[in-house]
Amino acid sequence: MTYAVNPAISRIEAPPIIEAQGWVRPGLRNRKLLNLCQAVPSWSAADALDEEVARLAHEPGIGLYTDIYGIAELRAAIAAHLSADYRGKIAAENVCVTAGCNQAFAASIMAIAKAGDNVIVPVPYFFNHTMWLGMLGVEARYISGIGAPDPQEALKLIDANTRAIVLCTPNNPTGAIYSPEVLQGFFEVARARGIALVIDETYKDFRAGAAPAHAIFSTPGWEDCFIHLYSFSKAYAMTGYRVGSITASTRILAEIEKIMDCLAICTAHLSQRAALFALTSLEDWKAEKIANMHGRLSALRQAFGRTGLRYELVSSGALFAYVKHPFTDETAKAVAMRLAGEHDLLCLPGSIFGPGQEAYLRIAFANAEASDMEVLVDRLIESQISAISASSSGRAIR
Ligand SMILES: Cc1ncc(COP(=O)(O)O)c(C=O)c1O
Repeated sequence: MTYAVNPAISRIEAPPIIEAQGWVRPGLRNRKLLNLCQAVPSWSAADALDEEVARLAHEPGIGLYTDIYGIAELRAAIAAHLSADYRGKIAAENVCVTAGCNQAFAASIMAIAKAGDNVIVPVPYFFNHTMWLGMLGVEARYISGIGAPDPQEALKLIDANTRAIVLCTPNNPTGAIYSPEVLQGFFEVARARGIALVIDETYKDFRAGAAPAHAIFSTPGWEDCFIHLYSFSKAYAMTGYRVGSITASTRILAEIEKIMDCLAICTAHLSQRAALFALTSLEDWKAEKIANMHGRLSALRQAFGRTGLRYELVSSGALFAYVKHPFTDETAKAVAMRLAGEHDLLCLPGSIFGPGQEAYLRIAFANAEASDMEVLVDRLIESQISAISASSSGRAIR
């Protein structure tokens, strides 16, 4: 006899990126795998960050816990950064430092929703969001999310058990960047119905231009219904440091403090100091890297204009391209597995990102150089050609 596992956890699918990595068959064709399954920049963290971390490692007290909410200097720096970015008014007491944005999401949702409640999410969604909702027994209610989601569609789904609307912009998986008007519309719906608007803005720094992503932080009383989530992982190439943040009312942060105390007590002290250095000393480094990523995005968009390509670029931005594949009779997973196993291109099937996504693939291009984008399209075309030669065995292509 052994012990039972929690069915709320065992019924959730295994982490999808690990599964996808198993579809690769290395060494068959003697060429490099184009690994576009995870949104991780191809560069390492800044050299100056490495040096600072080496110096910090010798500081007395660096191995100790910090305040649950994080060190005061980092909370103040995040508040100042967000205030400048959104031209809003954010105080340090509104910020909680977390071990990455996933923990920020987990703690925020746990603080506002219980089993039997529901949360509204556009589809396609970031799979960790719905995995977590499922683990808590919180129902995900879907609105359509290719292009801009519609606040009025969300309004129709709200009932007495609705606790939040969850958005992600720039979006994972589509790369879509929602307009300030759309985001304000969701904020007004949330405020009118007394629920939370949770926005995961992990990729906010990858927007083009300096205009604020939205005006919510400059709307009086934003704290009543807005929860903002951020990550240091992508913009500063600090995925392994595990630093993110929640910006919200002190009322909800007091609940989140209890959750954080049990989850991790605090974000790793050294990581917090590294994030503080990144925020205060690496603006130029970040700007250069983001300009590089914009170059990759332009190269990708241009490559998808190739004559004869039957994969359609539906949406793109930040580190993502959402692509409609041409195989009408096949699941997205079958297509993604074939691309990985036969064409050395690893990307994720749309089905991981929600119902109704069988026609799509997500390409996370942060790991590819601008010069790789033509190779990406070469391999997509190669998959069309081999499908046509296999068409006598029944593979239909649009
Ligand atoms: C939308 C979104 N939120 C959160 C995360 C996780 O971020 P972190 O590394 O800060 O936990 C990711 C990572 O891919 C993401 O795409």
